[in-house]
Amino acid sequence: METDNSAVAINKLRFCLGEHMGCFSCFRPQRKENTSNRIEDSSVARSNSSFDLRRKPPPPHGETKNCAQSFSFHDLAVATRNFKEANLIGEGGFGKVYKGQLQSRQANNDLISFVVAVKHLNREGIQGSKEFLVEILMLIMLRHSNLVNLYGYCAEGDERLLVYEYMPQGSLEDHLFDLSPDKKPLDWNTRIKIALGTARGLTYLHDVANPPVIYRDMKAANILLDDNFNPKLSDFGLAKLGPVGDRTHVSTRVMGTFGYCAPDYARSGKLTLKSDVYSFGVLLLELITGRRTFDSSRIGQEQYLTKWARPFLNDRRKFFLLADPLLEGCFPPRAFHQVVVVTSMCLQDQPHVRPIIADVVVALSHVASQPYIPVPDQSKICSSPSSSSSPSLKASGTPSRARKGRKSSLKE
Ligand SMILES: Nc1ncnc2c1ncn2[C@@H]1O[C@H](COP(=O)(O)OP(=O)(O)OP(=O)(O)O)[C@@H](O)[C@H]1O
Ligand SMILES: [Mg+2]
Repeated sequence: METDNSAVAINKLRFCLGEHMGCFSCFRPQRKENTSNRIEDSSVARSNSSFDLRRKPPPPHGETKNCAQSFSFHDLAVATRNFKEANLIGEGGFGKVYKGQLQSRQANNDLISFVVAVKHLNREGIQGSKEFLVEILMLIMLRHSNLVNLYGYCAEGDERLLVYEYMPQGSLEDHLFDLSPDKKPLDWNTRIKIALGTARGLTYLHDVANPPVIYRDMKAANILLDDNFNPKLSDFGLAKLGPVGDRTHVSTRVMGTFGYCAPDYARSGKLTLKSDVYSFGVLLLELITGRRTFDSSRIGQEQYLTKWARPFLNDRRKFFLLADPLLEGCFPPRAFHQVVVVTSMCLQDQPHVRPIIADVVVALSHVASQPYIPVPDQSKICSSPSSSSSPSLKASGTPSRARKGRKSSLKE
């Protein structure tokens, strides 16, 4: 599929996928009959440079058609002021991300501006090109308030760019690790809000999309945050259509990010919905501990978050040793205990004993219903080990220290 002209490839793929997906009534909410094909001619790439905002903002939940527009490279160069360094907001394995401003003429002829994030993919790499296509196709077909919105793309010559809604608070990684002294650590309630929203996004992929979608790239860097710290999953380039019918897994090359990959998947290449549940468990562990999945500045076992955490997760008396010191004990002990139990279940070695993500949403909703409320005159309540009453999940925690570490992404 790595042709010189990705726009053609996108259109072809859309067409093919349209046919096949139509057979499966793809990406429709389950249990609802749908005859229409989600991939319609009207959503096929067009080369006009104006962005029709009348289709935006999208409805909050996922059943309406999503459209991604084709932009010219010139449009995006103008939007980002020629990819000016000052507009650089991040960089990942596949390229740089810039903040940009696009303009759109509305029905009444008024011009309005809106902010976007433009990902400029590195030119080299077949894999990047494949992922570019998968990303577009997935985000065209999927829509949920906890998934990032794709506005459009550019495939001109060698250039590959993706245009997303701009997420003002950046990624979860930016708020969890290596905080500058002026940056406020995330409080407990916000961490739970992020965990719950993320689990809801994953539930949409697993339980609503049909056939299900395995995300495969759950990690703090891919959880983007809006102004109110509502999370959205991003980066769907590694996503896979999940097994259908009697099949329990899809066989793939092992891909993902080091530290988040489920052990069973890493061993066998058999990808299941439970692979995502494991990665979500790692994310929960990061939220609880404020530690990175891999931290080379630490010594021995401590470098690997899951290895380090295992003895604490297996002994309920030690659960509280997992707490991020930056929380300063400001969390409800019982809810904390429950989250550790959920985390431990998601991190089970055997995939079949991990919960399904919908059950995790139920458990985290229960946790969210017990927010931390600071007590006047005693603004910090130090938590101590106490009994748990976890909702229908069973499992079994360590001292966190200062945060520091390097990113360790092992994408293949
Ligand atoms: N839509 C967006 N709005 C705001 N910031 C964004 C957006 N998309 C990405 N970013 C910022 O750019 C950074 C890099 O994102 P990108 O997805 O390219 O790489 P990554 O996820 O960190 O790593 P990798 O691509 O190697 O897995 C993010 O961590 C985030 O801070
Ligand atoms: Mg990302």
